[in-house]
Amino acid sequence: SRDPKKVRAALKPILLPWQVEAAVKSESETSSFAGKTGAVFILRPPANLDANNLASHGGRLNKSDFARTRDHAGSVLGQVLSWKCDKLILHFNGTSLEQETASLVGLELASYNFAENRDNPRKPKKKLPTLLLSGSQLSNANIRAASDLALATNMARHLTNLPGGSLNPTNYAQAIEDLLGDAANTTVTVWKNADLARENCGLLQAVGAGAAEPPALVHIRYRPKDSNGKKPIALVGKGITFDTGGLDIKPSSAMRLMKKDMGGSAAVAGIAYWATRAGISQPLDCYLALAENAVSGTAFRPGDIITARSGHTVEIDNTDAEGRLVLADALDVAVTQKGADAPRAVINLATLTGAIKVALGAEISGLFTNSDALSSAIEDSGWSSGELTWRMPLFQPYFSHLKSSFADFANSGPGGFAGAISAALFLQQFVGKVPWAHLDIYSWRDSAGGAYSESGGSGQGVQMFAQFLSGADSLAV
Ligand code: BES
Ligand code: MN
Ligand code: ZN
Repeated sequence: SRDPKKVRAALKPILLPWQVEAAVKSESETSSFAGKTGAVFILRPPANLDANNLASHGGRLNKSDFARTRDHAGSVLGQVLSWKCDKLILHFNGTSLEQETASLVGLELASYNFAENRDNPRKPKKKLPTLLLSGSQLSNANIRAASDLALATNMARHLTNLPGGSLNPTNYAQAIEDLLGDAANTTVTVWKNADLARENCGLLQAVGAGAAEPPALVHIRYRPKDSNGKKPIALVGKGITFDTGGLDIKPSSAMRLMKKDMGGSAAVAGIAYWATRAGISQPLDCYLALAENAVSGTAFRPGDIITARSGHTVEIDNTDAEGRLVLADALDVAVTQKGADAPRAVINLATLTGAIKVALGAEISGLFTNSDALSSAIEDSGWSSGELTWRMPLFQPYFSHLKSSFADFANSGPGGFAGAISAALFLQQFVGKVPWAHLDIYSWRDSAGGAYSESGGSGQGVQMFAQFLSGADSLAV
């Protein structure tokens, strides 16, 4: 609240009289005092919210209340921890339920630390203060939901942060079985190399052929009891545990961060974790297409012609355009499910192109979709959850960039024009008429900011699709 009366009443018991008056007068969004019984941090929205808002872009470039509050609360946790208190009392004053939820999400996101979460004996876990709530409307269920959303995001961040030497397709698949195998109404199935061969997943096998650990396809099947006959939504994630580029090897600067090339699959795993914890009524099929794109004598080559699970033949123009290959076979598995398992929509998340990062940067993902209904639902969810996405054109004439003289089409083309669009058009060949969306994401924060108190894996997509799935009942597909 910015109401002086309310502020005075709340602060009087914990601050000295001059501090109360200073706090009331202060225009700043964050102020802090060494109060009567300990450190006091006061967080308020900007004095003039409207002045910060753009009238353009349909308002979608303005931070949502959720995003602003999440980042505000999370951004002070570092300072709070430096006081080494054993109790943190979060007192809400004039807040909405959404703002209170966002505050908890922000604090949990900000408390994530990679080094102390990777079984590193040199970095024992910090003891976090006990959190007490006061003046809050949050029910226990609300608190659990906020915590689950943040933990799902942190799980995706953590998987993304694990180096390529630690996370490979085999132990990644095992980790997902361990994390989700026992969840209610959930089964996890892993297709290993022999299963992929039986299922004709030639593209996924080709990408994984050069690595010591074989590729795998993980299927997380979630079927809640109260699903009311709803058809499942399928989520597909790109899970390249390390992308060297293959024989079309990347230069060193471009390879440096390629442990994050499984960020799409990490987000899908995070969404699955959240969905099972929240017990949503929307059935889900989550597929993680896992492979390492390595350089070796058994690696696939430029010029190779590979038959996809769908039956399409693909000429390899560039082994570094591997993400679309592993996704193609996984998308085909998703769209060929029959009867009650046939999906109402298929959505894939992938660190697919460098071109989208050039166009939209780290914070905005590129959205490609054949469905206007999916487009607006995903754009809305992205905005309100604070994970922006922007629709890009599936411009069919550019499919000619992928012409091949020897196969149905190639996996990339010459020139590098509209690289994110041609990658999306490649994926579209494998989804038929099913409502489909592809998110070309970055999965990484180059610097810390807001609730993300450290740089690295961002879990991009988890909060967007938790929000999206929460509204799946009213989705017009
Ligand atoms: N994983 C990369 C895309 C990428 C690069 C994402 C940098 C985020 C940051 C992908 O596998 C790739 O290498 N794409 C190529 C495609 C090209 C060879 C047609 C690219 O974007 O350069
Ligand atoms: Mn690549
Ligand atoms: Zn890649």
